Amino acid sequence: MNFNKDFKILSSGITYLDNCATTLKPSVVIDEINDYYTNYCANAHRGDYDLSRKVDEKISETREKVAYFINAKDSKEIIFTSGATESLNIIIKGFFGNYLKDGDEILTTKAEHASLILPWFEVAKTTNSKIKYIDLNPDLTVTLDNVKKAISKKTKVISLAHITNVIGDVRPIKEIIKYAHENNILVVIDAAQSVPHEKIDVTFLDVDFLAFSAHKMLGPTGVGVLYGKTKYLNDLKPLITGGGMNAFFDSLMNVEYKDIPEKLEPGTPNVSGIIGFSKAIDYLNALGMENVHKYEVDLKKYMISRLSKLKNVVIYNKDIPNGIITFNVNGVFAQDVAAYLNKKGICVRVGSHCAKILSEVLGVKNTCRASLYFYNTKEDVDKLVDALDNDNILYDSL
Ligand code: ALA
Repeated sequence: MNFNKDFKILSSGITYLDNCATTLKPSVVIDEINDYYTNYCANAHRGDYDLSRKVDEKISETREKVAYFINAKDSKEIIFTSGATESLNIIIKGFFGNYLKDGDEILTTKAEHASLILPWFEVAKTTNSKIKYIDLNPDLTVTLDNVKKAISKKTKVISLAHITNVIGDVRPIKEIIKYAHENNILVVIDAAQSVPHEKIDVTFLDVDFLAFSAHKMLGPTGVGVLYGKTKYLNDLKPLITGGGMNAFFDSLMNVEYKDIPEKLEPGTPNVSGIIGFSKAIDYLNALGMENVHKYEVDLKKYMISRLSKLKNVVIYNKDIPNGIITFNVNGVFAQDVAAYLNKKGICVRVGSHCAKILSEVLGVKNTCRASLYFYNTKEDVDKLVDALDNDNILYDSL
């Protein structure tokens, strides 16, 4: 399929291979946002007039759509946030900041993104609980056995990415969650790199909390989702208070909060973003998440078959079945590779990718990452591989 009609930016000739960072947006999403600002720009929740009621309806429709997309039991378990980072901060600080006690243990890994690990650092300090790292295998994957070895009687929560943003390894979260629950341990999943790329079913997984961002799945920036089981969201203390989330307050400081989801969505929501997100989900549903996943896996196989023939390139995640390819060019600093590729109109991300502790295990601080989505083609892959098939990259980057 040719997606240039839907993604106008593709016609500019760029080769966009940074889809883990953010995806491109189809015209239907952009048009929907434009329609809101042009034709029914009003605030949500507060207006006793038709325009505002329409906004309320659109937000509530999107909430239902997201719930259906990840198979949540109830749409009130879907909280709109500004992104996965905010979702994780709310879960970790608002729930676990009040749940963990002195000496409790938090299990995570050294491959996690800053948005997951840094809130845990803060909560570990304020609750006097301890962070413990689950061992990574030599190929940087995590198995249930690794998790079992790390668990102790003090473990209260396991928190990790479903798919990591550097290596792209897929964690066996269904098995981890089942084992965790048998041991009274809660599980928090960062699904920023999985919900956009494969079918996720929170009811099947039985996950306690899960976070992801709209902008990594065709939607606008500034919108994210916090999924949580109702019983835990009811106990979650809001990090931010204000309008829209309270049912009552008086001069004596008596305050009553609304129920979820409103309790956790203070202030004016990102109306245009949420409305645009709805169209992104429609677009992915029309493609079918199984098809999106299969296409990316096949395209990665093609890229690996070509890239592994280059003697100057080292690949860190050849066998991981998704669209993330992480590599370095021997003797060339990753930033110089990016500068060189940029000259050819190829967009890849380089650096630590916000997973700074991973270097302790990977042995290198910086890598180049090409990340695919369904609109990428074999021609995009050829362009990247042909560009890397050059012994003078360092010289040509200048
Ligand atoms: N987490 C995003 C990435 O990996 C920003 O690029």
